[in-house]
Amino acid sequence: MKIFVTRRLPTPGICLLEKEHDLEINPENQVLSKKEIIRGVKGKDGLLCLLTDTIDEDIITAEPAVKMIANYAVGYDNVDVEAATKQGIPVSNTPGVLTDTTAEMAWALIYAVARRIAEGDRFARDGRFEGWDPMLLLGRDLTKKTLGIIGAGRIGTAVGLKSKGLQMKVLYVDSAKNDTLEKEVQATQASLERALEDSDFITLHVPLTDDTHHLIGKAEIDQMKESAILINTSRGPVVDEQALINALEHNRIFGAGLDVYEHEPMIPQALRKLENVVLQPHSASATVDTRSNMAIIAAKNMLAGLDGKVPPNCVNPEVFEKNKN
Ligand code: DGY
Repeated sequence: MKIFVTRRLPTPGICLLEKEHDLEINPENQVLSKKEIIRGVKGKDGLLCLLTDTIDEDIITAEPAVKMIANYAVGYDNVDVEAATKQGIPVSNTPGVLTDTTAEMAWALIYAVARRIAEGDRFARDGRFEGWDPMLLLGRDLTKKTLGIIGAGRIGTAVGLKSKGLQMKVLYVDSAKNDTLEKEVQATQASLERALEDSDFITLHVPLTDDTHHLIGKAEIDQMKESAILINTSRGPVVDEQALINALEHNRIFGAGLDVYEHEPMIPQALRKLENVVLQPHSASATVDTRSNMAIIAAKNMLAGLDGKVPPNCVNPEVFEKNKN
């Protein structure tokens, strides 16, 4: 069968696919336009896409339709799953493999903002260090502070577990009780309001849905402590970016660590100018091991889907029920 891959991916995944199918891989290391993706999927059986590709109804219904869509990401808000389900096309994601890697990035950002690492690095490189100064680059302690986890799924749980050595008080906001967090770090389930008010560090781990769009806006930032630090490694639109910029400009909170942005890849100039924010280019899952494992998982999902089997990480398994009828 024929598969269209929208961007260069780590070799282990590509090798798996090449053994069984013909691949057309976008030769340019850049995001394709909708037109280019429609052209790419023409005559193909499978589409292996990235979180940077918007796979909308027009692509999904382009005739003849593909038989399988494997997304190379755990988040799949870039794919119109409803439209795919209507067409009977399975869609898969890559959960699990990037859990710890993403949680580690959340921690990297927590440390970086709290201890002003990026700012200190710029300061030292610029030749501004003139000797030890009691007031230089004062940050925030982590030990015994309160960590608020918004969204205690796989990644949120991993972030909570990694707080162990810091003897932190852990609050989590989730509709489901999290026994692992409660047992391992004595975490407490809390309302969003309580987590915002009580936490020193607030870290976001919710998927992007209509309900979580702008989950954190001005009203929520106003509930945070002045010393609070907000971390976002989930999806940009979960935070009202302009409200956050206003808050950071007026030192309404201590700082923020961001891996994701509301209108990626655009990062507002106003955000880039601020010292109290640490910015990463959506690279929370970017380690050699994890990106390779993601490619392998995406490939295995694709192989199963093209074989008429339920892919191991199918996000719309109901299509198989539908297809049976
Ligand atoms: C994902 O897989 O959804 C992550 O955002 C990738 O970094």
